[in-house]
Amino acid sequence: MKIKPIHIFIVLSLSFLIYSFSIYIHPIYAKPEANINIEKAISGRLVWQKYNCQSCHQFYGLGGYLGTDLTNIYSAKNKGEAVIKAVILTGNDAMPAYHLSENELTDLMEFFKQTNQSGRADYNNFTIYNNGMIERK
Ligand code: HEC
Repeated sequence: MKIKPIHIFIVLSLSFLIYSFSIYIHPIYAKPEANINIEKAISGRLVWQKYNCQSCHQFYGLGGYLGTDLTNIYSAKNKGEAVIKAVILTGNDAMPAYHLSENELTDLMEFFKQTNQSGRADYNNFTIYNNGMIERK
């Protein structure tokens, strides 16, 4: 049988549908633990996006590389909310100071709390699947 353009189109369309389906049935977030205020965590993520923190920082090793990976910053040793807020408000050598409102800061903390519970950022402990998804080993 001769391969016609319509055959290629059908194969590509089917591949697209199967791939989309496999992505959508895969859970993206680990279920948050009880003490997370998910509304605030979502607003916190919007603050994160609004100020484009991702351009310098990573989650799960993905993002810009000027700053550190912040997936587990919330539970990092000798830090905690007060230190995190202080760094954001005052900046440091390579990080600009961000004059966030108290609400923005609290929402951001809730977002960090949620990312912290979603897993560990050590990518050596991840299984990477060939469809691009990653999962904790
Ligand atoms: C221009 C790049 C840049 C941007 C944009 C940026 N940061 Fe940073 N950030 C840094 C650098 C560099 C550090 C210092 C890392 C170090 O101390 O080794 C840092 C440190 C931090 C720390 C402390 C990390 C630690 O391990 O102590 C936090 C928390 C943080 N940034 C949050 C944010 C947030 C929230 C935003 C967005 C509002 C943001 N950063 C935007 C570059 C950036």
